[in-house]
Amino acid sequence: MAIEEYGTTANGLPPCPYGRCDGDGWILNEDGTASKCDCLEPRLAKARASGINSVLPKRYRGVSFDRPPVTEIDPGAVGAVREWIEALDQNFEAGNGLWLMGDTGTGKTTLAMLVSKEALKRDYTVAIYSMPSLLTRIRATYGAEAGEESYDEFFERLCEVDLLHVDDLGAEKQTEWVLEQLYALVNERYERQKSIVVTTNLSQDELELQIGPRTVSRLIQMCGEYQIPMFGEDARQKPQLRDS
Ligand SMILES: Nc1ncnc2c1ncn2[C@@H]1O[C@H](COP(=O)(O)OP(=O)(O)OP(=O)(O)O)[C@@H](O)[C@H]1O
Ligand SMILES: [Mg+2]
Ligand SMILES: [Zn+2]
Repeated sequence: MAIEEYGTTANGLPPCPYGRCDGDGWILNEDGTASKCDCLEPRLAKARASGINSVLPKRYRGVSFDRPPVTEIDPGAVGAVREWIEALDQNFEAGNGLWLMGDTGTGKTTLAMLVSKEALKRDYTVAIYSMPSLLTRIRATYGAEAGEESYDEFFERLCEVDLLHVDDLGAEKQTEWVLEQLYALVNERYERQKSIVVTTNLSQDELELQIGPRTVSRLIQMCGEYQIPMFGEDARQKPQLRDS
């Protein structure tokens, strides 16, 4: 049976078809080492075949509305994200987006991951990249050899996924090339009415300077009222949050 025929585990991954691992392809041994589960290879093959990064980063796999940190984040912002997710199918149909902006450590990436996790759960295709890593990935296609994915193929995948999740928009180094890539991608998805979720530390004005007014203008139209400001202290600096 194909992996996709199973539902999704609490960590956002399709469950192990053999019931041996918790969905990440690794079995933890009692001595603390890990061995490969039989489901690992097919999982990796599937990820390679999809050509896009659609894996929730480990830190955010467990995100859920009913537990911290989401329960600690500004209720206004959380409510808006919940509302957006409640209408997820319609939002995808219309190509509506979501834009989370604010200072560092206020929960933007956490809330964006809730959206991606729900989309993956419902079997939509999702591409998850931080802006700097997306650019690195695009650059890597320039050196593609025969049989490897070309720039055009990768770009087309980015345009076609149901949800493009770009974390840390504006954190990239600004060059003509970067501006062109970003504009081409956002414009293409805008024209195809495809949803996008972005997080950024920049205000709208700062973002216009960083990525250009034409790209920002399209994002504004796509995200509409879901241009969500987030405020507060840097939660990473609260001592109780340190990883134990
Ligand atoms: N309001 C909050 N209360 C408590 N913990 C939070 C809150 N917001 C975020 N966290 C926790 O703080 C850490 C940072 O959250 P997150 O990565 O979502 O921040 P961010 O806004 O994306 O930051 P950055 O702008 O630096 O990318 C995470 O470990 C998250 O679980
Ligand atoms: Mg972030
Ligand atoms: Zn397994």
